[in-house]
Amino acid sequence: MEPSLLEVAEAAALAAGKLAVERWRAPRTLMEKGNQDLVTDVDFAAQKIITDHIAAAFPDHGFLTEEHDATLAAAGRVIWVIDPIDGTTNYSRQVPLYNVSIAATVDGQALVGVVYDAVHEELFVAERGAGARCNGQPIRVNDVARLERAVLSCDWSRGVRQRGLVLETIGRIAPSVHTIRSFGSAALAICWIAAGRVDCYFNYTLSAWDIAAAGLIVHEAGGRMTGADGAPYDLRRPTTWTLASNGALHDALLAHIAVPDR
Ligand code: IPD
Ligand code: CA
Ligand code: CA
Repeated sequence: MEPSLLEVAEAAALAAGKLAVERWRAPRTLMEKGNQDLVTDVDFAAQKIITDHIAAAFPDHGFLTEEHDATLAAAGRVIWVIDPIDGTTNYSRQVPLYNVSIAATVDGQALVGVVYDAVHEELFVAERGAGARCNGQPIRVNDVARLERAVLSCDWSRGVRQRGLVLETIGRIAPSVHTIRSFGSAALAICWIAAGRVDCYFNYTLSAWDIAAAGLIVHEAGGRMTGADGAPYDLRRPTTWTLASNGALHDALLAHIAVPDR
């Protein structure tokens, strides 16, 4: 019998996370692949473990991976969206905040999402319509509804213009909120909203692989994630910013987000 999408995603994430932890303190090759954008040898090795797992189980599926691999099919009934290490800058400096992120998608919507924080041994999973769990236990966003009580999170986007927008948004919000965090791992910040630990997260430069899995997890935990146009998230359409929240704070936060010029 064919394994389920979730079973394969979980097995692949656990295997890749194990490798990342094992190679944690070993010397590693660090390359700059773009403006303020790093990749290590472990990113490539972890991605290969994941894609091998998936291709063995589902030979007719396609891939959208952060690290380029010309051997992978791009098209398929299901497209797997993969970030082998989300939080590469943290990983490369031995800051223990990173994760493996895997989603199975159809028509730009995630059906299954898995985010594995191997350092803390937390496996966040969701299936569309079936709720979200961490290590098998159901998780739910919190009910913080007032900005004064909110723990906001965001990350420092790449690019001068985007960083200006982050500063502008923080300038508008900082006086009102309880506090602000910047974890350096988009998928973990969003899963922590799903688990009720943090209340919201915004970022001006995310790609589909950063949020495919975590977006489903926060949605299934009762939260919201929207792009710039406020429409339901379509992973095939990049947006100029992303806001994830516990839902209760979403509209209040939208009013504060600095919108890029079009
Ligand atoms: C990055 C992290 C970071 C976010 C960046 C992402 P990577 O992913 O999620 O928190 O600010 O926009 O690109 O490169 O470490 O996989
Ligand atoms: Ca990422
Ligand atoms: Ca990555």
